[in-house]
Amino acid sequence: MTAARNENQLDHVAIIMDGNGRWAKARGLPRIEGHRRGGDTVRTVLDACNEFGIRYLTLFAFSSENWKRPADEVGSLMNLLVRFLTRETSALVRRGVRLHAIGQWRDLPPKARAALERAMAHTAHCDERHLTLALSYGSRQEAASAARAYAEAVLRGEEKPEECSWERFSRYLDTRDLPDPDLIIRTSGESRLSNFLMLQGAYSELYFSPVPWPEFGREHLLEAVNCFKRRERRYGLTGEQLHEKAAVVS
Ligand code: IPE
Ligand code: IPE
Ligand code: MG
Repeated sequence: MTAARNENQLDHVAIIMDGNGRWAKARGLPRIEGHRRGGDTVRTVLDACNEFGIRYLTLFAFSSENWKRPADEVGSLMNLLVRFLTRETSALVRRGVRLHAIGQWRDLPPKARAALERAMAHTAHCDERHLTLALSYGSRQEAASAARAYAEAVLRGEEKPEECSWERFSRYLDTRDLPDPDLIIRTSGESRLSNFLMLQGAYSELYFSPVPWPEFGREHLLEAVNCFKRRERRYGLTGEQLHEKAAVVS
């Protein structure tokens, strides 16, 4: 990440898709119905990202901590994931979207893991846009795994601790092939990151929407995008320095 890039360029949106359960409960429906409707929102938001020229979309679909939910809810979420991947993969290919996963997704139940691997393989040749699913993902777990992989590389003589920098260390994170998110959106009124992209989001703009994920639509995303465009991303500089820089570039 550098301060030199256009500060209002929106390449990467990451979303904490929250509020499915409360949305369902408010309607007297089982929580899983909220998750099912949330799956429909994913398709809507993917289309909107295409329309708005957003190349990278990262979705927090299941956290490391979500394993602690009741077993039937976890099982239903995994079934919905399989259904989503089975139904959507050909549409992803048609739209040139490559699917990625971050997190400890290899720990998913065999059916979900297989569906994910299949979908990633089918879209591997696509490079116009990128959809990343964070599955069994937690930033702290990711940082601990990266530290371990880095330490192993030191033992193999491939890294020198005295040369450790963010640039070098970040190559051991799950997100090594992704740009940092420009904008992190959380739906349904909570104002926290819940262990999502905490290192990569160091300079992300944050946007909290009161709208629950099953109701989040194109117009809500557009509102977030417009709000992002009005922000001034200073990366530690003064506003004056930023304006001078912009004047030199233009
Ligand atoms: C987000 O909705 C989906 C997942 C975390 C898997 P929630 O299930 O957290 O919905 P609320 O927050 O309970 O309403
Ligand atoms: C974060 O939502 C995880 C996902 C959206 C997948 P949670 O609903 O699990 O977060 P908390 O528990 O409210 O912080
Ligand atoms: Mg929640």
